[in-house]
Amino acid sequence: TSPVREKFVEIGEEKFVLPIYFTENWESDVNKFEVLDDDVFLLGHPKTGTTWLHEIVDLIVHGVHTKDINTDRMRRQLFLDFPIIFNLEVASQHFPFFNIMMKALHEEKSPRCIRTHLPWCLLPEQIRNGTRSPKMICVLRNPKDTCVSFYHYNRLMGGFTGTFEEFSRLFLAGRLHYGPFLKNIKTHWEKRNEHKILFVKYSDLKKDLPGMINKMATFLEKPLSESEVQALAEHASVDNMKKNVGKQTTEQVLKFAKTFDTFVAHSDFVRAGKEGGYDSIMSEELAQKFDKFTEKELEGTGLSF
Ligand code: A3P
Repeated sequence: TSPVREKFVEIGEEKFVLPIYFTENWESDVNKFEVLDDDVFLLGHPKTGTTWLHEIVDLIVHGVHTKDINTDRMRRQLFLDFPIIFNLEVASQHFPFFNIMMKALHEEKSPRCIRTHLPWCLLPEQIRNGTRSPKMICVLRNPKDTCVSFYHYNRLMGGFTGTFEEFSRLFLAGRLHYGPFLKNIKTHWEKRNEHKILFVKYSDLKKDLPGMINKMATFLEKPLSESEVQALAEHASVDNMKKNVGKQTTEQVLKFAKTFDTFVAHSDFVRAGKEGGYDSIMSEELAQKFDKFTEKELEGTGLSF
């Protein structure tokens, strides 16, 4: 590790950016985490649609019971690493959450759906060395929309007060938490033939949600009836996600944000939910820079969004 920004360090060859407190907890809480074979791990960089994925997969795994489909939301959103935000001064009150989340994970009944934004090299040892082989689903979203979404989120609750251009520079330079973005994603992609990982593109979820729900249900060996697929697709539409999951998460976040006086909330948690909405804020010149950067970084990997 080496220091990158105040209270953040770069980890390993790829220089993944994480807070110092995380490195202190990683060995005992994450690396030694007891994985169960029937766990389902949800992988993905922040703002690539991981809440959406989590909501869908949780309902596939635990059953689509339409009567309680809109209740008990937060119980379902279990993280291996409590999401990290831009400014750790602002986030200092987050730290107890890490322990709360770990406790909730240990108390959760199987099968557990566990989300993480971590790259492969920081996942629990039992996954990496194949002692346990849980199914994993990794969501992929294009870097331009991810960056725009990440920017709004970090203004909402991350304590980032700069401009979008400043944020983009940090994103492309791999200086933001969980970054470098493409390197993070590539660590999972490289394991696709050795482990049970299904890759799901945000763009495909947008294009054909019922088809993708079926694909994930088949992968998880939890086949759904036609009417269950339809109910779940309806429940997970962007408008419904805004109404229930998004509203509850935003309320929680804002309640939490009110405890800080350093920033004001700027955006809803389920925000635009669009593929290709980046041009509302990103100049053409910057978009081209993103495209070049992506092309170079992904060359020869077969990975696309
Ligand atoms: P935008 O900010 O571009 O709207 P994560 O959950 O990984 O933090 O990702 C958040 C992004 O997923 C946000 O993107 C959010 O709006 C989007 N999202 C959440 N639910 C969605 C849905 N049902 N359909 C489309 N996008 C959704």
